[in-house]
Amino acid sequence: MSTTRGLEGVVATTSSVSSIIDDVLTYQGYNIDDLAENASFEEVIYLLWNGRLPNKSELDELTKDLAANMDVPKEIFDYMKAYPTDKVHPMAALRTAVSQLALYDDEADEMSEEANKRKAVRLQARIPAIVTGFSRIRNGEEPVAPKKDLSFAANFLYMLTGQEPDETSITAFNKALVLHADHELNASTFTARVCVATLSDVYSGITSAIGALKGPLHGGANERVMAMLSEIGEVDNVEPYIRKALDNKEKIMGFGHRVYKKGDPRAKHLREMSRKLTKITGESKWYEMSVKIEDMVTGEKGLPPNVDFYSASVYHSLGIDHDLFTPIFATSRVSGWLAHILEQYSDNRLIRPRAEYVGPDKQHYVPLDERS
Ligand code: ACO
Repeated sequence: MSTTRGLEGVVATTSSVSSIIDDVLTYQGYNIDDLAENASFEEVIYLLWNGRLPNKSELDELTKDLAANMDVPKEIFDYMKAYPTDKVHPMAALRTAVSQLALYDDEADEMSEEANKRKAVRLQARIPAIVTGFSRIRNGEEPVAPKKDLSFAANFLYMLTGQEPDETSITAFNKALVLHADHELNASTFTARVCVATLSDVYSGITSAIGALKGPLHGGANERVMAMLSEIGEVDNVEPYIRKALDNKEKIMGFGHRVYKKGDPRAKHLREMSRKLTKITGESKWYEMSVKIEDMVTGEKGLPPNVDFYSASVYHSLGIDHDLFTPIFATSRVSGWLAHILEQYSDNRLIRPRAEYVGPDKQHYVPLDERS
């Protein structure tokens, strides 16, 4: 039996949702660069779930469906108000609330394809309301009900602040959602597929995936990037800070990737958004610091930035609390998780690999009172 640490390079399934080939990311065959420049997040959701872009009436129908399903059962917010909100990380709140959603869905354990697609719409629609609702509740405010005529991106920002966002913010946020929507067999997507391959339900799959995304080696990195930028504080402090971190062989958050070796194709879009948005807010230092960090880490270690690096200064420029960065990642990535879950159900086989045993051998039971 031979092992591959971290399953590096192991091809664990076939999938037609998205691909990474020669450092190029595509969703259903569409290059991410093309989608980032042109597509709405709603179009991307349709693409991931149906394998093709929608026509006008199909897009209208999905948009209406999402808007109609955005209201979260009142009990979810009631429970949330009882969470220790001053201590709870929003990713933990999201993980708990998504699990609770299943308790209020009569179809939670209904396994037909139609029922699973209806649940996909409900989950996609309700996660933004949960993320923004938690943010407001912990600030002592009431959740804001979604506006049915706003786009997905605009609604998120509206529910967060209670104010209709400007066009620049909507465009930037939509693009960030498009860029984070799917990413082949990343850790959280694999988690979702492993979970539902036992024929467990969609809510269990998404709850598991949120748990995997939360970690700092995966989606949790974007919040850590902003913590690093805040700690550095000024452009002049970058050099000594990164020098020390590299000399101490510390991991710099937002750099490196298991699959991309030449670079993450999403990073350049976020880099440009960071440049533009930080200029608008008059806080170019976040972009300038990021560029200087990139120069050092890529120059010295050959590690290019990943999707999480520049998304930090993008979300900060949109006025978003730093611990909401990873929940925003989840708000987008749930579209990909759901596509993979539907794909897994359509041709399911239990995912059950083996482990090479390296523990002790030929042990004999010793009664408790004879043990030292
Ligand atoms: N900073 C400094 N050194 C790094 C970094 C980094 N960010 N990433 C990798 N390295 C180094 C490792 O120390 C290791 O060096 P060594 O061979 O001298 O020991 C080598 O590069 C290989 O790194 P691994 O951690 O073994 O690579 P792996 O493929 O397992 O990990 C990962 C990939 C987890 C993304 C890693 O690069 C990392 O921890 N990055 C920082 C966290 C991060 O940004 N995560 C987000 C990834 S994108 C996403 O999930 C959305």
